[in-house]
Amino acid sequence: MSEIAKRNAAEAALKLVEPGMVLGLGTGSTAAIFVRLLAERVNHGLKIVGTPTSEATEKLARSLGLRIVAPDELARIDLTIDGADEFDPELNLIKGGGAALLREKIIAEASDRMVVIADAGKEVKALGRFPLPIEINAFGSELTRRRIHHHIASLGLANAPSAWRMATGENLLHTDGGHLILDLSCGVISDPAALAAALGDIPGVVEHGLFIGYASQVIVGEVDGARVVGGR
Ligand code: A5P
Repeated sequence: MSEIAKRNAAEAALKLVEPGMVLGLGTGSTAAIFVRLLAERVNHGLKIVGTPTSEATEKLARSLGLRIVAPDELARIDLTIDGADEFDPELNLIKGGGAALLREKIIAEASDRMVVIADAGKEVKALGRFPLPIEINAFGSELTRRRIHHHIASLGLANAPSAWRMATGENLLHTDGGHLILDLSCGVISDPAALAAALGDIPGVVEHGLFIGYASQVIVGEVDGARVVGGR
């Protein structure tokens, strides 16, 4: 059911793509559906260039014959289409469930527009049901974890549990950039901007999965179609 919803969102996003665009290509299962649909259009003559937000997306896009360009080579990115783990009515997002949040944020920030594609299960009144992914430098990672808990205590998150993301068995997951992911179970995040600011103050935090003010709109996939939230 959710697969149909994701596909409906991806199909709706495809309508935003125009010939000649430079596209940021997101990461995750919904973004992968979009990349596959995009490739079908490209195989029928659409000319676009893509820049991926992860090695997994790059591999997929290349395997489908999409033209991929590294971000350093691009003067601009017209539109990024990416998934999300949660979105709220203000279009604030939690991202990073696929551990690609750093590259996703780099590309989203540099894009003229970021449009999120997500099934309706990702829609929340307030962020925080999904554990917040935080990308952390491996040096002093336990110290950084303690500093995070110290900094967020004043935000009512003193008892928020955290866990290192595992790859397989007892091996820690490493991101494409070689960093670790700490998943912070916040519960309701009453002030996402304050939490983002607190995390941004900690040197060992490379990036966090709160995307505030990035999304222009969210295309919400349903079983029988898609609806748009927001309209920047
Ligand atoms: C990747 O790091 C994430 O930000 C994904 O965009 C997010 O986890 C959504 O993935 P799905 O589309 O697989 O739910």
